[in-house]
Amino acid sequence: MLRPYDNNLPRRLRFGRGISAELKGELRRLGSSRPLFITDRGVSAAGLLKRVLGPLEAEGIRAAVYDATEPEPPFACVAAAVALHGGSFDADAVVALGGGSVIDTAKLVAATFKDGRDAAGLAGIGKVGRRDLPLLCIPTTSGTGSEATPVAIFTDPVTGNKVGVVDPCLVPDIVLLDPELSDGLPRLPTAAAGMDALVHALEAYIAKVATPMARGLALEAARRLGPALPAVCRDGGDREARDAMLVGANLAGLAFANSSCCAVHALALPLGGRFHIAHGVVTGCLTAETMRHNLPEIRSDVAVFAEALGWKDTPPEDFPGKLASLARSIGLTDVLRAVSIPEASLAEMARAAVANRRLMDPNPRAVTEADAVDIYRRTLEFHV
Ligand SMILES: [Fe+2]
Repeated sequence: MLRPYDNNLPRRLRFGRGISAELKGELRRLGSSRPLFITDRGVSAAGLLKRVLGPLEAEGIRAAVYDATEPEPPFACVAAAVALHGGSFDADAVVALGGGSVIDTAKLVAATFKDGRDAAGLAGIGKVGRRDLPLLCIPTTSGTGSEATPVAIFTDPVTGNKVGVVDPCLVPDIVLLDPELSDGLPRLPTAAAGMDALVHALEAYIAKVATPMARGLALEAARRLGPALPAVCRDGGDREARDAMLVGANLAGLAFANSSCCAVHALALPLGGRFHIAHGVVTGCLTAETMRHNLPEIRSDVAVFAEALGWKDTPPEDFPGKLASLARSIGLTDVLRAVSIPEASLAEMARAAVANRRLMDPNPRAVTEADAVDIYRRTLEFHV
């Protein structure tokens, strides 16, 4: 029987090459004339901040910028952005320009800018409650889907643990999908983010809590990402593939926002956090062995999902192997191979992964600590 569900979606979502040039009109919709931009040094160095902000300033709009967002950010980035501008700039909207780390930081800046709440105290489910400033997101990578979700992930700099803040009020108001901003992204971040998006679609599709809308979004995401991911990794200048990646990643984000990520993400968070490996590398490499574990419960789903990816006539038992070859062929396995991960760390990571009930409970098949160690070991077999 269908269980009760909520769907949460951004209010307005636009796609188009060059569409970020229409930011001023979108800010007007939000009643904003003093936006606070959250970004990072990479986006700024790539010239994307100037490209988006320049036309606004030329029209006399006063904006403030926080560009020190760190990758896999600590909560301290939120406090730093609020401290930098909170006393001096009367922001009336937050604009996130960047990848997942930037968008996640911007979500909590928008929620705490006016009242100065401690961001770390909002970790968990449903603890944010309100967001006083409107939030507009312009993703510059095709992967995290964070522009579509009520989730923000932060890293504890001491333990390396990743902490989720989940609240419907974190879903952005307006999203501008402009693939021109991702055209210059180098091959490896393109591959890692793109594979992460594929995993989002897959986990959203198989999760026990998937809503009917999420299942439909996940399959459409797979139809875009399946052919586009290898294509964009072969040729970063393939604009059609860039467009499909951005749309596919966004659809996958909308899908898991209304379903859940599952065991791949539960297993990825301790591994990525402790060894500082890019999130998409970790999810991309773990997905094959996690799906091998899940296979008894997902055989019919896998047949449909593989078909959507364009992997015609793939028997379910071949699906995990195909995921592993994809991760290998786009260079993710080599990145993981270069990191030294001691055997002794597997049990502790397995404990942390299994303790993450937010992500483990929706997984279609239970994962014990022994299963988790097994999945890590088979994924990392070249190390141990
Ligand atoms: Fe992810």
